[in-house]
Amino acid sequence: MKVTYYGQSCFLIETSVVKILFDPFITPNELAKDIDINTIGADYILVSHGHSDHAADLITLARQTGATVVCSFEIAEWLGKKDINNCHPMNLGGQWNFDFGRVKMVFAAHSNSLPDGTYGGTAAGFILSFEGKTIYYAGDTALMQEMKLTGELYKLDAAFLPIGDNFTMGIDDAILAADFIKCRTIVGMHYDTFGYIKIDKKEALAKFENAGLDLKLIDIGRSIEL
Ligand code: NI
Ligand code: MN
Repeated sequence: MKVTYYGQSCFLIETSVVKILFDPFITPNELAKDIDINTIGADYILVSHGHSDHAADLITLARQTGATVVCSFEIAEWLGKKDINNCHPMNLGGQWNFDFGRVKMVFAAHSNSLPDGTYGGTAAGFILSFEGKTIYYAGDTALMQEMKLTGELYKLDAAFLPIGDNFTMGIDDAILAADFIKCRTIVGMHYDTFGYIKIDKKEALAKFENAGLDLKLIDIGRSIEL
């Protein structure tokens, strides 16, 4: 699968049959100013929580793409009031078989509100199983014991983990998280976008390597194969 990074926690995963966009926050991100969101297509938009650094472009891109928005029940209700009705509401622990594969909504240790202050339900992450691969998109989260359960129940091919610290796990806790979930291939997210979450990328890469892990930090606008 092809993974394109649009900054912060926004990625597009593409296979020959499906395009899945995560946490659309692009236009307010100075680091992503070269990305033209008019060119982004998606069949599904997965939203971990409603904070603006994950949802600023959600309404625009939901309208533009016509994608099904997979999110908490509360975010789906909020989107409905904005006339975005192509939503699939979920809640923690639930899974659903979509036409491309299975998605499970899992706990994220974080808060959740919409940009206008509306309660957004519990913050979440997702475990996706499709086309023979299983990936974990953690959303914004602290390191937590629940990750050990993920490591026991799933054989992950890759995991998207926040590494920017202050609002989420930092580098050292993300290394522990990789151990908890038993996954060697980690795609870093939620770093460098603003002052509180600036990281030393060289240091991050070295620490992961020393722990026997493969940390992928994708340049904004670039793609990798997973
Ligand atoms: Ni957040
Ligand atoms: Mn965030």
